[in-house]
Amino acid sequence: RGRLRLPGPGSRGHARLGRSGAAAQPAAEEPGEVSTRKKTFAEVQAERLDQAERTVLIKCPSRLNEKKLLQYLSSHGNVKSHFFFENRGISALIEFSEKSSIASLQDAVGIPSASEHHVVPFKSRLFTFTLKNPVSQHLEETPLHLSPQSHIPVKNLIEKLCLADSISSQMYILLDEYQLTEENIRLRFLACSLVRDFARAYFPDSTVKPFGSSVNTFGKLGSDVDMFLDFRDTGKHATKMKKGPFEMEYQMKRLPSERLATQRILSVIGDCLDNFGPGCANVQKILNARCPLVKFSHQPTGFQCDLSVSNSIAIRSSELLYIYGCLDSRVRALVFSIRCWARVHGLTNSAPGTWITNFSLTMMVMFFLQRRSPPIIPTLDQLKELAGEKDKHIIGGYDCSFVSDLRKIKPTKNAETLDVLLSEFFEYFGNFDFRKNSINLRKGKEVNKPESSPLYIWNPFEQDLNISKNVNQPQLEKFIAMARESAWILQKEDKTQQMINKEPWGLAALLIPFGKNNSSKMKNRMKGIGSETIRSLLDSLKLNNASSQQKAVGK
Ligand code: CTP
Ligand code: MG
Repeated sequence: RGRLRLPGPGSRGHARLGRSGAAAQPAAEEPGEVSTRKKTFAEVQAERLDQAERTVLIKCPSRLNEKKLLQYLSSHGNVKSHFFFENRGISALIEFSEKSSIASLQDAVGIPSASEHHVVPFKSRLFTFTLKNPVSQHLEETPLHLSPQSHIPVKNLIEKLCLADSISSQMYILLDEYQLTEENIRLRFLACSLVRDFARAYFPDSTVKPFGSSVNTFGKLGSDVDMFLDFRDTGKHATKMKKGPFEMEYQMKRLPSERLATQRILSVIGDCLDNFGPGCANVQKILNARCPLVKFSHQPTGFQCDLSVSNSIAIRSSELLYIYGCLDSRVRALVFSIRCWARVHGLTNSAPGTWITNFSLTMMVMFFLQRRSPPIIPTLDQLKELAGEKDKHIIGGYDCSFVSDLRKIKPTKNAETLDVLLSEFFEYFGNFDFRKNSINLRKGKEVNKPESSPLYIWNPFEQDLNISKNVNQPQLEKFIAMARESAWILQKEDKTQQMINKEPWGLAALLIPFGKNNSSKMKNRMKGIGSETIRSLLDSLKLNNASSQQKAVGK
């Protein structure tokens, strides 16, 4: 069997080429093998942002001659790469070798005449390709390859999983179907880059960068793009200026708090996107959330976006997860399976509320992997010990340092298969003492809960924050019950018999809602849980109303 090489961020698209054949045989696991992907998070980000700046988006007619399009474009410069995708018609993402090609293209295009459209003088990187004589192009037409931007429905996934030969293989198939493709990642960075063009109208030194699951290696096709406005360059100027006798009123008025500044900035950017942003629709300002943000849908790329102002700590958690995701191929496979399982059983939800979030769930998987013997991934304290001078980050008084060079991290000696890990995950959290213990990734240990939230997961960097504060007792109990049920299904199952009967087995069996026909079994696994719900309801009645009405909006 060939070995699974998890493709690096620069080549993920190619992994999907294996979908029909090779991917169904996801290879002998080589636990502990450090992925071939050695680039640091910062390097990958810089490369992607640069690539996005050299990129444009072109709306194309439904019947398109690819050669013609490329021929037209070549008069403006060398096209380094391109792909087509469907989003309210066909669009092409075009990466030029040189940024100057974009200016050349912008100068050569027609602008809709002012009698039909009221144009704002802003040159965007969104174009429409039309040919005066569309008939002639039909002659040499070859069908376009459209890169998929969404994953297959769960029903189809389950069918595919049933054909695999082990639970491990099933988990790699799920990963391959759901993970972001090379093309989707490019599109995400382009969306940020297009918003940046716009933000620069107000704040010339700003950049817009993605964070969260778009960059932490745990992103799924179809998930939102979290982006933030960064003024770091402005910061650099400010320190430089202290050297001379002058002080400049630099861009911003002095405001009494950072939060207020953030709200003001997001407010104008929100209005600006709403009024003039090409293709920005349903702009919603959510400025009173703990982390103020502007939500909008970016129609040219088809993404739902959450824009906030630089939150250095959230970026550190994105990098931390990136490191964990790169260390061992089992990490991402397990996270994707657990997230998909949680979604199917209604444990997570795209709307904000008292549900466990994907982010919390990912942290729970990381914690579980730290608790294996020997551990599959190191604790945050261990990563901090490996940090070099350049890795030092103190943010708001918190030490957020950890190693960025993946080569410095020793591969694990743990050789457990994903079959074992999946079932042990359910076993572990099905029996976790949530009443007493909290989850601490910095120490990699269960520690006493500092307060009474049903689920307490320490924010690895801001140690006084619980990242799952929104989760209520009934939701936690549902999670425990589902975990127990799943552990039980995996233990009792007779794979051969199920395959003969053509019944879903392994991971596939866990992705079917545990319906009414086994509700009596479910009741058994819920035993002892009901009294806890009643107790917590009584507790919450005692609690001050204000604190329990915590806003679930935002982060
Ligand atoms: N974040 C955080 N604390 C929280 C929630 C979020 O620090 N309580 C940060 C994390 O870095 C997270 C990012 O904000 O990755 C984006 O949050 P969210 O979109 O909720 O999670 P994602 O990791 O992007 O997962 P999803 O695919 O569900 O969007
Ligand atoms: Mg997100």
